[in-house]
Amino acid sequence: MLLRCCHSLTRLGRLNTQRHQVAPAVASCAVRLWSSSEGQRSYQRAHGPSWRHALAGLLAGTGAVLAYGLHHHKAEQADTIKVQTIEKTSALPVFTQEEVTSHRSLEDGVWVTYKGAVYDITDFVAMHPGGDKILLAAGGDLEPFWALYAVHNQEHVLEILSEYKVGVLSAEDLKKQQTVKSSDPYSSDPKRHPVLRINSQKPFNAEPPPELLTDSYITPSAIFFKRNHLPVPQVDPASYRLHVEGLPGGVLTLSLEELKTRFPKHTITATLQCAGNRRSEMNQVKQVKGLNWGIAAISNATWSGARLRDVLLAAGYGPDVAKWACHVQFEGLDKDVTGTTYGSSIPLNKAVNEEGDVLLAYEMNGEDLPADHGYPVRVVVPGTVGARNVKWLGKIIVSAEESNSHWQQNDYKGFSPGTDWDTVDFKSAPAIQELPIQSAITTPADGAVVNRSGEEVTVKGYAWSGGGREVVRVDVSLDGGKTWQVAQLRSSEKEQAPKPSPPPGRAWAWKLWELTAPLPAEAQELEIVCKAVDTSYNMQPDTVPPIWNLRGVLSNAWHRVKVKIREDESEG
Ligand code: MTE
Repeated sequence: MLLRCCHSLTRLGRLNTQRHQVAPAVASCAVRLWSSSEGQRSYQRAHGPSWRHALAGLLAGTGAVLAYGLHHHKAEQADTIKVQTIEKTSALPVFTQEEVTSHRSLEDGVWVTYKGAVYDITDFVAMHPGGDKILLAAGGDLEPFWALYAVHNQEHVLEILSEYKVGVLSAEDLKKQQTVKSSDPYSSDPKRHPVLRINSQKPFNAEPPPELLTDSYITPSAIFFKRNHLPVPQVDPASYRLHVEGLPGGVLTLSLEELKTRFPKHTITATLQCAGNRRSEMNQVKQVKGLNWGIAAISNATWSGARLRDVLLAAGYGPDVAKWACHVQFEGLDKDVTGTTYGSSIPLNKAVNEEGDVLLAYEMNGEDLPADHGYPVRVVVPGTVGARNVKWLGKIIVSAEESNSHWQQNDYKGFSPGTDWDTVDFKSAPAIQELPIQSAITTPADGAVVNRSGEEVTVKGYAWSGGGREVVRVDVSLDGGKTWQVAQLRSSEKEQAPKPSPPPGRAWAWKLWELTAPLPAEAQELEIVCKAVDTSYNMQPDTVPPIWNLRGVLSNAWHRVKVKIREDESEG
């Protein structure tokens, strides 16, 4: 009976009230019931779909569609009222920090505080877009986490949170919290080029406009796509040390100077692509979780540094190590509020193979690495997904195990289109390493208008494949894939004479391509399509639905843009 009464009240709450508006007795009954597992399950049954709905809105960036006007107003007011007043007017239970801290697991319940209120978010954990990283905040204050992952600073996120409110923090503990106010961890992030299209400001994630991307074979560092999970760390080059662990020789520690002078400098041209490149096309099929990247989360640069192989050999790598070690783990110097660093790993074979060309790079395009791209040292793992190219490199560990970081274990993995967030088992899929064949059209843009008087249309784009597989052909269609023409490939800044192919399996850089073709006589609209082929005759899938996956990674279907043909005025 009590259970039923609470459910109906919380259901009501979702529509037009907050929990702190329900009668005190019922509010505390709700608190008790949610901490019982049956209560939690029932609550989830009653609220799961609506939360998913709200969350889908959040992820689509369409929070405005969620008509919560009145609710917002109240939430804002609540923020400005002093805690003492809240305690008096809301009559919600008052909890001490100690009580909150005792709820930091799914078994004991997951409680957090935010601006003086206490929330039981146990039921929300499974629905959190960032996965169980939310548990890092369990038992503590959300504010420093939201400062770090600023995507949370939106009204509809507050709306979602408000539904989990179970009480308020004691005035004394709130005061203590306020004296350790967090400063903005992003305040020392570098200045960025204004032309970049920003997908998220904090952490900074941005891509260049597509038409600029293929203007140059080597992407200028300022407009090279930027993919940061955390604030950019400030690293002093004089005190910087790289630690190499896990080898029989003990820990090898290298200064920047030693890395530059003890090992031969090796230069490669390599394309980096984020696993989420072209995720926006997956979003058009069905909502996925992640930043809404367009077609430019990919760029090409020259990288110089020491070979990882040479450094591992200096640190004691030898045939005996290969008997037990399978992976090389990397740790960045960028940290979240709990001190957890960005990390990932690659197979040992790739790291030690003479032809793997894995670099501990200290230069990008002939200059020191820019802050956003990993200054002073990053790993460049050519042919491999961006996520393994760890920036601000602090530690290398040779190991029998893969990195246990969130980004290796619970992210950057591919799944069947039939797998959803209720059924996904991240352990069941391998971490993405080599990326599949990819190509996209950078000009004309989707929706552009072409004049019939020009008689021709010029189509440009990029093509690249992972694992060092060279792109050998790009096919372009002007009629949605019915007929095809072969584009001209380019693998240097200005193609005078065709460049010789790189050694087999070491084609790390993209090819730019171009096709100029007569405008079809009758057409009023063109559906321009491109698809690439690599040395293994891998080709791109023609549509998105068969490769759709809940995280929106590995999006490499034929790229399509529609353009209109404007008839000359003289022709009517
Ligand atoms: N390394 C660290 N330390 N921290 C990060 O957030 N992001 C990874 C990778 N290395 C990341 C990192 C991801 S997901 C990508 S796609 C590439 O860096 C992006 O590299 P870029 O910003 O130089 O383009």
